[in-house]
Amino acid sequence: MLVPMRSILEAADEYRYGQAAFNMNSVSQIEAAIEIHSLLRSGAILQGAEASNAYMGDAPDFMHASIEDKRRGAKIIGDAVRRFGEDAPIPVALHLDHGKSVESVKACIDGGYTSVMIDGSSLPYEENVELTREVVKLAHPYGVTVEGELGVLAGVEDHVFSATSTYTNPMQAIDFFKKTGCDALAISYGTCHGANKGKDTKIRREIAIATKECMMHEGIRGFLVSHGSSTVPQEYVQQINAMGGTLENAFGIDVNQLVDVARLGINKINVDTDIRLACTRNLLELFLNNPELQKSASIGAIYETMRANPKNFDPRNYLNSIKDTVLTGNIPDDDVARVVECLKNGVKESIAPLLVQFGSYRKSNLIRPVTLEEMADRYKKEGI
Ligand code: G3H
Ligand code: 13P
Ligand code: ZN
Repeated sequence: MLVPMRSILEAADEYRYGQAAFNMNSVSQIEAAIEIHSLLRSGAILQGAEASNAYMGDAPDFMHASIEDKRRGAKIIGDAVRRFGEDAPIPVALHLDHGKSVESVKACIDGGYTSVMIDGSSLPYEENVELTREVVKLAHPYGVTVEGELGVLAGVEDHVFSATSTYTNPMQAIDFFKKTGCDALAISYGTCHGANKGKDTKIRREIAIATKECMMHEGIRGFLVSHGSSTVPQEYVQQINAMGGTLENAFGIDVNQLVDVARLGINKINVDTDIRLACTRNLLELFLNNPELQKSASIGAIYETMRANPKNFDPRNYLNSIKDTVLTGNIPDDDVARVVECLKNGVKESIAPLLVQFGSYRKSNLIRPVTLEEMADRYKKEGI
């Protein structure tokens, strides 16, 4: 069933395991993600970023799309998650990743998202508080969970670029939770988005520890989120490069550090890049092992686009010729079926080990499956 993200994170917090959250960019990926979470009996947090909503809304340029495009895409993603998740044997939450505006949040709630992030981290502190508070007031009456962000991650964060990280101040995090009433908070503590996190990155675990400790002292029942947490498995990078890719300096976060912080109070761990890499590796392999597919009328263009952009590993940039399948999950011929299989397997291969290592594997029965209406009542009673 679909649940607010809060109920999934409450179990992760109570039993001290990490709950990964995965970014989705096609109907088939959503289907595969729910299948693998169900098989491993883990609660599922699937997320769509602003750009994913735009892409799934078939925007001409998904990085610079209109709110109408995003609204359309949010509904398509919401419908797909309901279609595969409603009768799944595990609780599933659908979360907006790095929401930038109240309009975007509204579009997602209307589309069936059960959780939203409002990322005001690039704003001055007081403006971030104000924006996040506004979103909490909008979302909680629907029972929808809210994640905020404090501190700036290094690297590319949607359209925000910051050359150096500004780490989260644990005392300010407490103030932020109190003033906004948000459920979850993304902190900056050494991770960054994308495949170039730096070799041997060391997470500043003491920021997570201090923040969680202060929250407990203050009676704040909120959750901490680790963004930019892909592990960038080196075999994916080597295999992609051995097949013509040109990924340079691609390193992720050592999974043992993520397991460590999950035990210390990081509740949600965001992963996108690992899935993109696995899907890209699978597709290159498909075309190299089956050269006749390179000239296929329905999927040959995918290979050409991949070849023309050997640095790219974002499937959204090379799946244009099968966009209808991306948006609907419909499979018109056998060649497209092979591509969809690569995408689905890429999702499963990259997700499964993380569910096991972060510890959400076999824990779905610990999650209290609360409806949005029940959660809305709880917020009302608690006055938030
Ligand atoms: O945090 C960013 C995610 O990796 C989403 O990426 O905005 O390109 O969809 P995107
Ligand atoms: P990665 O780029 O490390 O996968 O991070 C994803 C993320 O933080 C999504 O919000
Ligand atoms: Zn992020």
